[in-house]
Amino acid sequence: MALATTTAAAPTFDVRAVRADFPALHQEVNGYPLVYLDNAATSQKPETVIRALAEFYRRDNANVHRGIHELSRRATEAYEAARARMAHWLGATDPAEIVFTRGTTEAINLVAAAWGNANVHEGDEIVLTVLEHHSNVVPWQLLARRSGARLRYLDIDDEGRLRLEQLDELLGRRTKIVCVNHVSNSLGTINPVAEIARRAHDVGALLLVDGAQGAPHLPVSVAETGCDFYACSGHKMCGPTGIGALWARRELLEAMPPYQGGGEMISVVEKEYSTWAAVPHKFEAGTPNFADAVAMTAAIDYLEGIGRPAIMQQEHELVCYALERLRDLPGIRIYGPSSLEDRAAVISFTLQDAHPHDIATILDHQGIAIRAGHHCTQLVMKRYGITATARASFAFYNTQEEVDRLVDGLGEVVKIFGA
Ligand code: ALA
Repeated sequence: MALATTTAAAPTFDVRAVRADFPALHQEVNGYPLVYLDNAATSQKPETVIRALAEFYRRDNANVHRGIHELSRRATEAYEAARARMAHWLGATDPAEIVFTRGTTEAINLVAAAWGNANVHEGDEIVLTVLEHHSNVVPWQLLARRSGARLRYLDIDDEGRLRLEQLDELLGRRTKIVCVNHVSNSLGTINPVAEIARRAHDVGALLLVDGAQGAPHLPVSVAETGCDFYACSGHKMCGPTGIGALWARRELLEAMPPYQGGGEMISVVEKEYSTWAAVPHKFEAGTPNFADAVAMTAAIDYLEGIGRPAIMQQEHELVCYALERLRDLPGIRIYGPSSLEDRAAVISFTLQDAHPHDIATILDHQGIAIRAGHHCTQLVMKRYGITATARASFAFYNTQEEVDRLVDGLGEVVKIFGA
């Protein structure tokens, strides 16, 4: 996919100026300036996004696709423009291939229900990986239970990379779909999704990519990747919560039955049956989340204004620096790839015998926000024989000084738990 991890010719940007755009970054927590390193859970929002949402409600708010009046016309135009913007952001050319959803989770559930119910039957196989977030596991388990299909899992190696050599054994004529994340939320592994797409297609299967952690950090080109479905969330890429997207090839969307029934997804309703609206509206029953979609446009504008190369460069430098500094802590174990080419801006670790929740609590007392737990990836935790990690996840607005604060904070953990 434009999966490229290259950072060539990245323009430098002024991180101080960028930080000034994010109001939430400028506050004290427990008496210390906030260090926000929980970006894989959700990103902070620039002022332009906050303002776009408020402005929409102040000026243009009306229901979309329904009214003849001026406000409804404006809202509909802005909503459909947001769809085109999202398509472009994901490297797609046809806005009708974007279905707005609540987020990645709903997008994957939509595919598992609408495409899955129609296409997956007893004896068929669904290939997942142990690296998946629960949102790319549980919908497929539910489908397997409904259909009688079999789930098969690709393992990871000790550094959290997919063991692609297992694909030869896992993929076959029974495989209907392969589901994999673009970037692992718990280990930061960047997965070779274009290669997996090719191998899935070789056996006649489809590929769904969970792009929740990919779209915010890497260039995405669904066209170049050759995937069939790509799911992502707005709130992890500087946009509002409650808005996300499913990209799917148009012919797949056209062949799929609806996901939910209701207003706006129909063409004709009779007493005994209905016919469906054209895609993507067939999959957007009820009043869609148009205000957040419009604000998402401001988020994409903001990210494009900085530029993907600059975002990748900054995050790459932060991760290099953080790994270098963290490795010096006694008793630290860092999970995920040791090479930076296939690691995104996520660092999961354990530190001596300290429970990750204790680590996160001690850091919180110093104003440093990280996540601790299984990160909705219990299969990853089981693979390593642990129940939880501490996880620092970075965004382009983080700084080396914040990495220093993290390392100093972990020094306190080491002191408390004893070297
Ligand atoms: N899936 C999000 C995370 O990894 C919430 O933190």
